[in-house]
Amino acid sequence: MQKITIAIDGYSSTGKSTIAKQIAKELGYIYVDSGAMYRAVTYYALQNGFISKEEFNVSNFIKQLPNITLKFKFNPELGFAEMYLNNKNVEHDIRTMEVSSFVSAVAAVPEVRLQLVKQQQKMGKEKGIVMDGRDIGTVVFPDAELKIFMTASPEIRAKRRFDELIKRGDEIEFEDVLKNVQERDYIDSHREDSPLIKAEDAIEIDNSNLTLEEQYQKIMHLVTMTLESFE
Ligand code: DC
Repeated sequence: MQKITIAIDGYSSTGKSTIAKQIAKELGYIYVDSGAMYRAVTYYALQNGFISKEEFNVSNFIKQLPNITLKFKFNPELGFAEMYLNNKNVEHDIRTMEVSSFVSAVAAVPEVRLQLVKQQQKMGKEKGIVMDGRDIGTVVFPDAELKIFMTASPEIRAKRRFDELIKRGDEIEFEDVLKNVQERDYIDSHREDSPLIKAEDAIEIDNSNLTLEEQYQKIMHLVTMTLESFE
């Protein structure tokens, strides 16, 4: 059967990665969380002192880009690939509020985007891939056979992220998570390089009032129709 490329874009905490993982598993495709790559680069910048509360030293930081190696390694116990930064598993470290607070600023740097987009395109060369992010259907894979654009209200998204962070033991206030979601929405959709916009040929799904199962069925239906159109 012909393999396709599935691009899933949308605002933060719309559940893109949850659904992308499920679809990839069902189809036996590779799943790539492109946000994890921007998060890992941000984590590196924080760890190595390029970002402080006062400033982000962009010009020095971009000189470091060749020293950053990102790899996804499949963890069979978890059923998905975890993010490795310079051979260290950073899957947990990249999901903190600190990284979330700075990642949009790092992701707005054109040199960072150029490098990560190149790596993402390489991973999708053979098709058979589900990738989620902000610019997958517009920049990374403009020819993807299926493009989905996910939305949900900021309050619902913040509640989902808040529940996730509490579950893993982080001490956090709901208001701070909501503020972070709104700030990232703004920066991600207003940056000059590859802003978050819906690709013209993307199908929009507002999942504010959908259960995970309803959402899965809806998207799998689109996947099936797309695959059938190539038979
Ligand atoms: O999907 P996420 O929330 O983990 O992504 C973290 C940040 O990375 C997000 O605020 C914007 C940025 N990002 C991006 O600019 N382009 C992508 N393809 C994926 C993520």
